[in-house]
Amino acid sequence: MKIAVVGATGRTGSAGRRAGAGAWPPSDERRELMTESAIVAHALSITRGGNSVLHGIDCTIATGTITGLLGPSGCGKTTLLRAIIGTQRITSGAITVLGQPAGSPPLRRLVGYASQQASVYVDLTVEENVRYFAAAVGAAASDVDRVVEQVDLTSQRRELAGRLSGGQRSRVSLAVAMLGTPSVLILDEPTVGLDPVLRAELWELFRQLAHAGMTLLVSSHVMDEAERCHDVVLMRQGRVIAQAGPSDLKRRAGADSLDAAFLRLVNGDAA
Ligand SMILES: Nc1ncnc2c1ncn2[C@@H]1O[C@H](COP(=O)(O)OP(=O)(O)OP(=O)(O)O)[C@@H](O)[C@H]1O
Ligand SMILES: [Mg+2]
Repeated sequence: MKIAVVGATGRTGSAGRRAGAGAWPPSDERRELMTESAIVAHALSITRGGNSVLHGIDCTIATGTITGLLGPSGCGKTTLLRAIIGTQRITSGAITVLGQPAGSPPLRRLVGYASQQASVYVDLTVEENVRYFAAAVGAAASDVDRVVEQVDLTSQRRELAGRLSGGQRSRVSLAVAMLGTPSVLILDEPTVGLDPVLRAELWELFRQLAHAGMTLLVSSHVMDEAERCHDVVLMRQGRVIAQAGPSDLKRRAGADSLDAAFLRLVNGDAA
């Protein structure tokens, strides 16, 4: 996959780029620099269809970092991500993105989102899909080629989206989310259905995007993906039960693998 990232995002200040420079993963000292907050949720509660789904979430996502959002199925990850992009009605509390209330008009071009279900038009080709969304968000035509190449779909660009595999289709959604080089990228399980090579390449792309200053919040069920994050937010039953870097989480749970740490933290029996 072509994963060269051309141009920093540069829309959210310099903390991320400063913090992103150098070795990977970042040292604790460099993590300290990542203080500028891209997303802040405060006492966020959400009721959906009469179900109380999120119960007073407090969490802060630092600019220029990759944060993994993990937790058992049904714990509220998608609901939280929808609140961040502003498509989910909030019952109480507050959520701000780049200092603005989530969903406010100035954020539309600054926040990219790929939903859990790839949302593409099956009767359009890859390129037509991306071009259509580029026009909708006002992205430059030259951006279409860039994002299609970044998700490694250049050779399928004239295929109808309806004839793509599930993993290819979700990469079309990812390409659309990256149009216009947003400052914040919200990805709901972007690597489901991808083979290990593609997954690794996509994570390398995420790393480069964060290095260039972008803030990425990525939900996942896959532990080796959590290992690649600066920070991990662990949810259980509508609450954030831990937020820390992968090694901190292991230390806190007294576990030598993230798998074991998550099981302990989610089951509430951490040392
Ligand atoms: N439209 C809806 N009406 C009522 N309840 C809903 C609705 N959508 C989701 N829920 C409930 O909200 C809770 C959280 O769902 P959500 O989709 O946010 O979980 P998730 O952590 O993303 O799960 P998964 O890992 O399976 O994607 C679940 O208990 C679910 O049943
Ligand atoms: Mg979900």
